[in-house]
Amino acid sequence: MENYMKLEIAALSVNESFARSAVAAFALSLNPTLGELSDIKTAVSEAVTNCIVHAYDRGQEGRILIECRAQGENSLHIRITDYGCGIEDLSKAVLPFYTTLSGEERSGMGFTIMQTFMDDFSLESEKGKGTCVEMLKKIGEVENGGIKELANA
Ligand SMILES: Nc1ncnc2c1ncn2[C@@H]1O[C@H](COP(=O)(O)OP(=O)(O)OP(=O)(O)O)[C@@H](O)[C@H]1O
Ligand SMILES: [Mg+2]
Repeated sequence: MENYMKLEIAALSVNESFARSAVAAFALSLNPTLGELSDIKTAVSEAVTNCIVHAYDRGQEGRILIECRAQGENSLHIRITDYGCGIEDLSKAVLPFYTTLSGEERSGMGFTIMQTFMDDFSLESEKGKGTCVEMLKKIGEVENGGIKELANA
């Protein structure tokens, strides 16, 4: 049986570091390198931050579902779902530097970072229903005879 976990959290910024660490702790069972683990944390952090910052109106009670699934021995599948406002134009949203919160301290790089740090990325969203980001990280691909610093070591 393939290993998995599901975690539901309130869409509050205090939960961002918890979410990132929880996924990282789950990922340890796949024996990732420090670099792979760091990539996973960065991508999860961006996805969860988006749910917190964009999906729900201030004062609205939002929730975020985080699902992780080990696929075989060397990939981790992560799905992050919110039930908030959804994204109007997906093709615009994924463009580097595209943000709808330019007045604030957002740079519009979240989706670009997720795509860069992970091996596969997909985005689904429906206006008024919510948004779902799916990402895949391959673990243990980059050996190249180089130094492989295991996060578990
Ligand atoms: N979960 C979400 N719900 C609703 N809209 C979203 C969600 N995630 C992203 N968006 C929309 O997509 C845009 C691009 O997201 P992206 O993460 O790339 O940039 P950003 O969040 O604006 O800035 P940064 O991530 O650099 O702080 C956002 O500005 C927002 O309009
Ligand atoms: Mg973002």
